[in-house]
Amino acid sequence: MTGHETAVILLAAGKGTRMKSDLPKVLHRLAGKPLVNHALDAAGALGPAHCVVVVGPGMEDVAAAVAPHPTAVQADQRGTADAVLAAREALAGFGGGSDDATVLVLYGDTPMIEAGTLTAMIEARRAGAQVVVLGFRPGDSGEYGRLVLDASGALEAIVEYRDADEGQRDIDLCNSGVMAVSAGHIWDLLDRVGDDNAKGEYYLTDIVALAREQGLACAVVEGEEAEVLGINSRGDLAAAEAVWQQARRARAMADGATLIDPATVWFAHDTQIGRDVTIGPSVFFGSGVTVADGAEIHAFCHLDGVAIGLGASVGPFARLRPGAVIGEAARVGNFVEVKNAVLGAGAKANHLSYVGDAEVGAGANIGAGTITCNYDGFMKHRTEIGEGAFIGSNTALVAPVKVGKGALVGAGSTITKNVPDDAVAVTRGRHTVIEGAAKDYRERKLKEKKAKK
Ligand code: UD1
Ligand code: MG
Repeated sequence: MTGHETAVILLAAGKGTRMKSDLPKVLHRLAGKPLVNHALDAAGALGPAHCVVVVGPGMEDVAAAVAPHPTAVQADQRGTADAVLAAREALAGFGGGSDDATVLVLYGDTPMIEAGTLTAMIEARRAGAQVVVLGFRPGDSGEYGRLVLDASGALEAIVEYRDADEGQRDIDLCNSGVMAVSAGHIWDLLDRVGDDNAKGEYYLTDIVALAREQGLACAVVEGEEAEVLGINSRGDLAAAEAVWQQARRARAMADGATLIDPATVWFAHDTQIGRDVTIGPSVFFGSGVTVADGAEIHAFCHLDGVAIGLGASVGPFARLRPGAVIGEAARVGNFVEVKNAVLGAGAKANHLSYVGDAEVGAGANIGAGTITCNYDGFMKHRTEIGEGAFIGSNTALVAPVKVGKGALVGAGSTITKNVPDDAVAVTRGRHTVIEGAAKDYRERKLKEKKAKK
């Protein structure tokens, strides 16, 4: 944001005990992306000069997830004010201690926050408030901090639920936790926060009353509940996922995709869907999937790290894994798995196949039950199938191996050597017919059985 420098502090030092997990809370995933990266990406859209993530001791995995953003370690969990202070050194000299620079505080467990809301908070800072708080009116105010307004409607204080009296608990305007504070005042205000409260913690929220005592202006920007919901338990995580998915499904449809049963389609944070794409019921998108215009994904497909080309047809019951590229108008049918393989334009693998570490030329036809045997127990090897080749049903292609353009492989073959262009390769045993032999056998056996009785 030109003319107004912003630094972001993202608090993620909490252990998240209510998740009952060995994984730090902020690394649990929403739409396939860690919670902490959701908040970080929203903040990143503002183009901040700095972005520091506050972590607890030993949280190297969180540091790795947020890299290259730097982390600051909060030694003890002594409250949100203490957590913000842990980032002070990393931001030394930021904004020259000026009122024209803003420190934006976000929580790592609030993943639905949107860049537009953060921009509105910076605007409120520019309009003259030294402390701007993102408030919201939840359906159930629960134990959120309450925002106390003065007679003029300006923010006077934040009272934590445990410290609030009856009247204050009736306030429905709550603290989301997101704050935008003047770089010229934040550190002085935080230095004055004490721990004389119900939890014996240093509350970030206390800086509002401290700022007002000094005659500084404080303001509230109101956001939607869905945007600020905080994740404290697995139940909260599932609820947030539901909210996220519902919004994403609506966007996919608004952008021109048909979702036959939207409630059963699961997108990832980075799914890209073109126009006139049709998605059947119960389709799951892992991360890294792009679907070009006009493609159809039939029911019950699991897609992960795949590019699906123009007008291609996938499924039902297909599994496309990372590195799969499905060419224009290509077809991948039921019970077909494709991994790290390119299917050229118009190529077909319609039934019961595994195509891994392979290159399939345009227009090639992979018969039912074809397997690329890509793994020898130690290493992976590639299979190349030329344009227009025809692979008969139940063929094992033992990689590394090449089948030339226009070549034909007879059904039931095990191909271990390269097949030249336009050649026929068959590795079946000779077809032998013995006339009447089945009848002779039956009669002989029936006689033996009778003789025993
Ligand atoms: C906080 C707010 C409350 C607000 C609510 C919104 C305070 C005192 N209260 O309460 O007004 O309504 O969020 O969800 O700020 N953290 C640290 N170090 C600490 C403590 C917390 O990094 O020492 C981090 C946590 O990882 C978490 C965030 O700060 O991301 C919030 O902490 P949490 O304990 O969840 O605060 P709440 O009690 O929810
Ligand atoms: Mg919380």
